[in-house]
Amino acid sequence: MQHRRDFLKFLAASPLLTEYSAFAQEVEMTLGERLTDPSDVINVFEMEAVARERIPPAHLGYLNTGVDSDLTLRANRAGFNRYQIKPRRLVDVSETDTSIGMLGIEASSPIFICPVGSQGAYHPEAELGTARAAAAKDHHMTLSTVASTPIEEVVEARGGPIWYQLYPTDSWDHTVAMIQRAERAGATAVVLTIDLPGGRNTETQSVMTRSDTRVCSSCHTGQSKPMFDGLNMNGVGINDPSLTWDVIGRMKEVVNMDVLIKGLETAEDAALAVQHGADGVWISNHGGRATETGRATIEILPEVAAAVNGRVPIVVDGGFRRGTDIYKALAMGATAVGIGRPYCWGLGAFGQAGVERVLDLLNRELLITMRGSGTPTLNSIGPDYVLDAGYRVPRGRLGRDLL
Ligand code: GLV
Repeated sequence: MQHRRDFLKFLAASPLLTEYSAFAQEVEMTLGERLTDPSDVINVFEMEAVARERIPPAHLGYLNTGVDSDLTLRANRAGFNRYQIKPRRLVDVSETDTSIGMLGIEASSPIFICPVGSQGAYHPEAELGTARAAAAKDHHMTLSTVASTPIEEVVEARGGPIWYQLYPTDSWDHTVAMIQRAERAGATAVVLTIDLPGGRNTETQSVMTRSDTRVCSSCHTGQSKPMFDGLNMNGVGINDPSLTWDVIGRMKEVVNMDVLIKGLETAEDAALAVQHGADGVWISNHGGRATETGRATIEILPEVAAAVNGRVPIVVDGGFRRGTDIYKALAMGATAVGIGRPYCWGLGAFGQAGVERVLDLLNRELLITMRGSGTPTLNSIGPDYVLDAGYRVPRGRLGRDLL
């Protein structure tokens, strides 16, 4: 525990992490070590607090980092303040339904599990814990190219179709081998991530790694990720900076999976994605880990929804921590909403049970919002239920609500 307190003091002293430190101190005083059962955790922020106790600093740094000064990461959260819910009353909300069908998949909630790499860094159950939780709660999931667990095992643990997130390597042969393997394993869509063609600068990760006393090289022995098994990755980069829109058609020539484009931040690119045959668009700034000083994804959603105009489904992720956040996105044109860090905090805190708790918490909050707004089904949630204030309404400084 001394180690943890030193770490928090270190955070408190860091000029880059003023908001993190306020959050961490609050948590240290109020919750931290006391939440030992997933059912005691009352929201996603508390789950992060528990995860902070249990995930080693360098790994938590990898999970929580943004890029440069983490401005896009913060913008994702702050963006929700611009939109306010306009509830309607005296509507029969005694029966609710959050089930969703999209591109051939069925799920009981519009909250999708986003691809997050290296989940073995958070808990030994890794992606299997996540997939079992997704199966238990009937949520759709997408597996990362850089997962710690082979896709075949994850599909089995999920017990149903998943999507495969692709980092487009700079070798087309490698890319084809990976998406064909994913298709053989039972993935029904490839989610091409296009937002990292130029590398990135993850300073919060670097800062947090400094406070980790373990010797990284004793675990990080240069072994590759299971998705690269059988492939010679020498000299192959996992992002291809030369990629252009024709990649959608090229992928469709080699697999029969749907193709979604993840990492869109403009209406123009959403229109191009549809024009080039994408089956779905996925608004994302990689959880604030790609473009720095970018826009909140919730603020991007209206222009993308207008450009897409119902032609293909829209997924959005980035800073979703509350049922109200999810509700706003659904009202503004999203078909489904992705979460990344929240379920990984659950995984790091309690394994599969923690992921299940995060899903329960968010589903409960979403249902409360749906009932409270007079919208008992996903189809009934529309633009009339959200007002764009045109600016980010200040929320005050709630230490536990800063991420
Ligand atoms: C992987 O996708 C990452 O953002 O680290």
